[in-house]
Amino acid sequence: MLKTTLLKATEAGARVLQHYFNGTFTVSHKEGVNNLVTQADKESEAVILETIREAFPDHYILSEEVGALPQDSNYKWIIDPIDGTVNFANGIPICCVSIGVEKDGKMILGAVYNPFMGELFVAERGQGATLNDRRIKVSNKDEVLRSCVVTGFPYSYLDTPNGPLKVFERFIRRGVPVRRLGSAAIDLCWVAAGRFDGFYEHKLEAWDSAAGFLMVEEAGGKVTDFKGDYYSPYQPGIVATNGKIHTEMLQWIQG
Ligand code: IPD
Ligand code: CA
Ligand code: CA
Repeated sequence: MLKTTLLKATEAGARVLQHYFNGTFTVSHKEGVNNLVTQADKESEAVILETIREAFPDHYILSEEVGALPQDSNYKWIIDPIDGTVNFANGIPICCVSIGVEKDGKMILGAVYNPFMGELFVAERGQGATLNDRRIKVSNKDEVLRSCVVTGFPYSYLDTPNGPLKVFERFIRRGVPVRRLGSAAIDLCWVAAGRFDGFYEHKLEAWDSAAGFLMVEEAGGKVTDFKGDYYSPYQPGIVATNGKIHTEMLQWIQG
């Protein structure tokens, strides 16, 4: 029932993305430059919430645009109605719906769906991760220098000593290809699928990584914070790799 509802909600949200993509929709701005929210974000969120509430009216919900809808429940749904909104608003087909489900504070299920590439990623704790129903696993690279890495940048640049631009420069100067897709959820799923060997980002919100981090873990990879400790989606930094390059990635990131 939980998984069925998760998939139903993810697909309902994705239908909204498809409806508005390359069409007409209103756009408003959140804090920071170019931090957008479109009519599609809001409508995708509305249909997702409706689907979840219909099946589980007493579950806790945390969703990007409406925020926290607390309930006294063991279950919590963490929703990004469009991850990659800037791509979406520009007609770039790298965006998705991302939903994670926590039980007793542990992520147990996640779905990330990019309808423009026809790619549905699903992870279930202890059961592995799939792309369109086929099992996926992380890559085998064992050296950062030979790896293909992906990252993202926060909307407002954090002026910290080892901030996003500094770390990015460190990788680029050593010749490591670093991509920037513009959707953290897709970045994580592509690590899970072995397309990227590693991903890091300085400042994510819980809804950006909730489903994707479970995807990486269930595909055999490793996810930690910047110090190499247990990953919680409620703190900002994330390092997600195939596992083999994890220690080295952390060293590069820490400088
Ligand atoms: C953003 C994307 C992007 C990441 C930003 C996020 P949004 O989410 O995941 O890749 O770099 O930090 O805020 O705003 O498109 O949902
Ligand atoms: Ca997001
Ligand atoms: Ca979003």
